[in-house]
Amino acid sequence: MTRTAPLTTDDLSAGAPVHTPAASGEWWRDAVIYQVYPRSFADGNGDGIGDLPGVTAKLDHLRQLGVDAVWLSPFYRSPQKDAGYDVADYRDIDPLFGTLEDFDEMLAGAHERGLKIIVDLVPNHSSDQHVWFQEALAAAPGSDARERYMFREGRGPAGDEPPNNWQSIFGGPAWTRLAPRADDGPLGPQWYLHLFDSSQPDLNWENPEVRAEFEDVLRFWLDRGVDGFRVDVAHGMVKAPGLPDWDGHVSMVEGTVEDGHEQVSDPSDPEDGSTGAGHAGPMFDQDGVHEIYRSWHRVLAEYPGDRCLVAEAWVEPLSRLARYVRPDEMHQAFNFSFLTAPWDAAKLRTVVDVSLDTMDAVSAPTTWVLSNHDVVRHASRFGLAEIGGRQLNGIAATDPQPDAELGLRRARAATLLMLALPGSAYLYQGEELGLPDHTALPAEVRQDPSFFRTDGAEPGRDGCRVPLPWVGGAPGNGFGPTGKTWLPQPGVYADLAADRQYGVKGSTYEMYRTALELRRSEQLGAGALAWVDALSDSPDVVAFRVAGVVVVSNLGAAPLTLPAEAEVLVASGDLDTSSGAVALPSDMTVWLHA
Ligand code: NOJ
Ligand code: CA
Repeated sequence: MTRTAPLTTDDLSAGAPVHTPAASGEWWRDAVIYQVYPRSFADGNGDGIGDLPGVTAKLDHLRQLGVDAVWLSPFYRSPQKDAGYDVADYRDIDPLFGTLEDFDEMLAGAHERGLKIIVDLVPNHSSDQHVWFQEALAAAPGSDARERYMFREGRGPAGDEPPNNWQSIFGGPAWTRLAPRADDGPLGPQWYLHLFDSSQPDLNWENPEVRAEFEDVLRFWLDRGVDGFRVDVAHGMVKAPGLPDWDGHVSMVEGTVEDGHEQVSDPSDPEDGSTGAGHAGPMFDQDGVHEIYRSWHRVLAEYPGDRCLVAEAWVEPLSRLARYVRPDEMHQAFNFSFLTAPWDAAKLRTVVDVSLDTMDAVSAPTTWVLSNHDVVRHASRFGLAEIGGRQLNGIAATDPQPDAELGLRRARAATLLMLALPGSAYLYQGEELGLPDHTALPAEVRQDPSFFRTDGAEPGRDGCRVPLPWVGGAPGNGFGPTGKTWLPQPGVYADLAADRQYGVKGSTYEMYRTALELRRSEQLGAGALAWVDALSDSPDVVAFRVAGVVVVSNLGAAPLTLPAEAEVLVASGDLDTSSGAVALPSDMTVWLHA
């Protein structure tokens, strides 16, 4: 029922907890983890591309913001065909980003400030410039060097059709054929599998040498002192035996479509919390991946200090995702069902409920995330009200443009809702400034392979990867010393720059800071959660109690009058006091003591 009467304190009483936190106190169970996308965070040397010295120089921004840990997207040696998710050497830093010494300095600076560091591990594929792939190209078909990757003979009498019909997630076929050589068999040159770009050959995880190599890579970074790993494409490393044909197509962030273009997981399924984020098919979520994570768990357990593994697994329903964080596997998994949920009270309640339930069942913390380097930022997504914010893979200049004010308003409300939820929360750099995507990037500056491989049909992810504004109005808004930025910033970034928000009451940055401080002091991350009974099937309101705090989000059109006795701890915007009482306007969230 739509609610118009003023709320009383009684109305806000909560039912029985639906979630009680685990007793063990590892740091990652309730941590707030900030994602740094190195090429766009801060540029130390003025070449227009962010780097590790840039990160080190901004560690105080992160400490003052109040996060617990930083996850850095890849900085390894790489030809940068997929912005570093194409790794040529897993044990070195790309000169674009600095040196191993720069890394050590950054790590030490973070640890001095009480910040943990999580690095990105990309085990599903390497770069085609990796020494192993170069060796495989030079070696004969059937050689040990080829066995490290997924080489196969083609189909058809001349072997000139791909080994199966799989599509690359970035568009086009998932197979590329080698150039002919004298020792090719009767079916001619082999093909290699790449779930992503042709410059990202998939590794063969059935090969013990590949497994041993990655355990060694883990140790290399653990020995250097990192606190954990975010594991790229954690649901993709093992493929179904025989690599059977499959008439579906998976897009990075839009989920799976079977032929005929039906989404596989029904985004409207009210029961299992699915919101359309799952990747299906014989290349994903195979049972064999779990043994890999069990062995990695054992490696991490040899080190002191609760090191952790975080799964990037686009898997639905949440009960399947929970299998990645069973007690002897990884420690956390990104909650993409939450990320892709629309701004809708009933759907948000369901995804929160099911998330807590399924992760509790395996004693893992639930994670919460709204933005990252692969999706349209939530300040832009939520500004596309007519399509429920589901546009994830980029917005082009020719697409309907988001309503910036509505987007930011809903983004701030969604963030406050998220930061109150028990478990661990992920923030993407710049969301603390309320940054939108660049939604009108000219085609000439785009760099995402998914844009090129779909002939521009998918705008791709460049819009959320624009260099951060630190000093409003300075060249490049203070991204680096020269004003150069590898992608152009939209005009609004000047007003949203960090220096224009520090200490400014009501700014998005100060809202994040206050919320993070309260989250810590009220121990929300480790709190029990109970729904506010009187509002538990409202189409307009999401309301729950965590630890001693009541959280109310108003997704309806009418303002919601709050109980006179309630103490407001933080609100996502200005409350409405025009009628004498305190009211929560539409598209806003408030935290209360009530
Ligand atoms: C997921 C990463 O987040 C994305 O940026 C990358 O393109 C793919 N995995 C392939 O590594
Ligand atoms: Ca640089």
